[in-house]
Amino acid sequence: MADKKPFVTLETIQKIPHKTPYHIYDERGIRLCARDVNRAFSWNAGFKEYFAVKATPNPRILQILKEEGCGADCSSLTELMLARAAGFYGHEIMFSSNATPAEEFVYANKIGALINFDDYSHIEFFKKHVGQFPDTISVRYNPGGAFSVHSQIMDTPADAKFGLTKEQVISAFAELRAEGVKNFGLHSFLASNTLTNDYYPRIAEILFELAVELREKTGAEVGFINLSGGVGIPYKPEDTPNDILKIGEGVRKAYEKILLPANMGGIAIFTEMGRFMLGPYGHLISTVLHKKNIYKTYVGLDASAVNLMRPAIYGAYHHISVLGKENEPATETYDVTGALCENNDKFAKSRQLPPIEAGDIVAIHDTGAHGHAMGYNYNGKLRSAEILLKENGETEVIRRAETAEDYFATLDFKIDTSL
Ligand SMILES: Cc1ncc(COP(=O)(O)O)c(C=O)c1O
Repeated sequence: MADKKPFVTLETIQKIPHKTPYHIYDERGIRLCARDVNRAFSWNAGFKEYFAVKATPNPRILQILKEEGCGADCSSLTELMLARAAGFYGHEIMFSSNATPAEEFVYANKIGALINFDDYSHIEFFKKHVGQFPDTISVRYNPGGAFSVHSQIMDTPADAKFGLTKEQVISAFAELRAEGVKNFGLHSFLASNTLTNDYYPRIAEILFELAVELREKTGAEVGFINLSGGVGIPYKPEDTPNDILKIGEGVRKAYEKILLPANMGGIAIFTEMGRFMLGPYGHLISTVLHKKNIYKTYVGLDASAVNLMRPAIYGAYHHISVLGKENEPATETYDVTGALCENNDKFAKSRQLPPIEAGDIVAIHDTGAHGHAMGYNYNGKLRSAEILLKENGETEVIRRAETAEDYFATLDFKIDTSL
């Protein structure tokens, strides 16, 4: 079984003058990953990874990714604003939303973002609320049925609320052409956290074939194909990691098999990964406050599900390292919990770990994507800080922790601060 080592040591954490809990991100890991992704798709002249802002909506992280050549994929007005604040412009921003409010289309259009329609009715809605269509429009495809790779069912798009049916995509392209749209994009997201090098190549085949069919049936030229997110990471020590170079190679083979013979070799490949780009390069750092023995032994942390929701809502596995005890044998069995008044507030159930005492510091792994971002305020808990571990070893607070004043900011009353 592969070992999962944290990217920080106890000594690193002890030098950081910030109270736990907080999320910490590894700049070096983020940059190296982005470079691997760009190398994997370097065969495609127009390739761009549009980082899924929802995964880690922090402008400092976005700036690092921009420096590595990435764009930004946004799903809401505030994410669009964030992308702008981080220095992304025009077609460096992709807007993939659903159930979209009119003002979000208006803003996305104003800043020149690439707009991805999630529904056929968005054409009429856009015309009514925005007016003139931009030169380029993308459409999200949902093939329905079950989606499988090598006969293994990975998800059921037929149950997903996203995208248009094939017939709707064909009609949408024809209608948008008639409205003056000149360039088209195709997009699809069919499975999440996939641990196979064949997910992207399979979705690429589906979209490449559709692009050929669309040109035949509507005359529309597809300029880019967005394979979206869904490339997974090895959360568990026994998981086999994806190999992004093999993934890029698999997409290239599908491109050469389907698009080149159709004389469509100018199509750019886009991706909008979140988890793969950031997941492994974040830890939630937390201090053990209590140890409790009843029918099981519970280790109570100063972090809770408000800081990392995935274990509570998906039963997701996140590896835990007790800092300074990485090499000690895992002789004890613990439930590792937060303080919420919810019994699902458990980072780990019946986990084998080294003996833990109050005051120990733990690193919860793979929290760099969909971690802090999914935070909330239940039980009056405040969202934590985010800290960047820079390449030179220094640390930078890239988001301060919330205060009680932040929590009360949307209410109209005075807090008694005299106590
Ligand atoms: C439209 C869209 N793009 C990209 C992503 C990023 O997915 P992942 O982080 O799994 O790569 C998501 C995730 O929800 C999404 O909804």
